[in-house]
Amino acid sequence: MKINIFSEQLSENLLQQCAEIWVACFTGPPRFENWTIESAADELQKYLAQKGDFILAMPDDRTVAAFAVGLPVADHYGGADLIAAGAHPQSYYFVALGTRPEFRRQGLGAALHKRREEEGVKRGYSVMTVRVRSDNDDNLRLLERAGFTESGRYQASIGESIAERLIMTKFVKAGVTDS
Ligand SMILES: CC(C)(COP(=O)(O)OP(=O)(O)OC[C@H]1O[C@@H](n2cnc3c(N)ncnc32)[C@H](O)[C@@H]1OP(=O)(O)O)[C@@H](O)C(=O)NCCC(=O)NCCS
Repeated sequence: MKINIFSEQLSENLLQQCAEIWVACFTGPPRFENWTIESAADELQKYLAQKGDFILAMPDDRTVAAFAVGLPVADHYGGADLIAAGAHPQSYYFVALGTRPEFRRQGLGAALHKRREEEGVKRGYSVMTVRVRSDNDDNLRLLERAGFTESGRYQASIGESIAERLIMTKFVKAGVTDS
């Protein structure tokens, strides 16, 4: 499995696969967010336009098994709200993470978290932030193991689904991205 980073130059095919994973991950229980492949692709296009890092786990040159997106929180179109909710204004923000159901529990989520943090550090950031539903136990375990702690809690609507969200933060020591 290779981990490839794309920023701006993501092909239509790879973007579509990320959109498929997005829909598979976020429209089912417990989230019930209201996404279609088209609206998910539009959302992902916004992050590409904001020069986000797309980090893809690929078993071969054409297949995306899992994806993660990261970008400075100040560049996120909803950055002001995230900062108001507790995200550090000078942080690198973890926008989304999803693993195709058939590729889960193979370490891809943890590997993408780590690689995304490395991309944030490369861009000069030492604070990592992420928003996660308070009932997303799978991702919370990954985040806590990676060294994140809660820095904010609020109700927010995403994809027309209203739920409690946590803002989690990690301060990375200079030159150290392993956790
Ligand atoms: C959260 C999510 C991304 C995790 O992805 P993943 O690729 O399964 O993550 P990992 O494989 O690194 O870790 C998952 C579990 O598998 C375990 N695992 C990792 N490698 C393993 C292996 N080789 N054999 C057995 N178990 C393994 C991990 O220890 C972890 O265990 P835990 O349940 O005790 O925490 C995935 O569940 C998902 O896509 N969920 C829906 C979308 C979502 O919630 N995204 C995050 C919010 S944006």
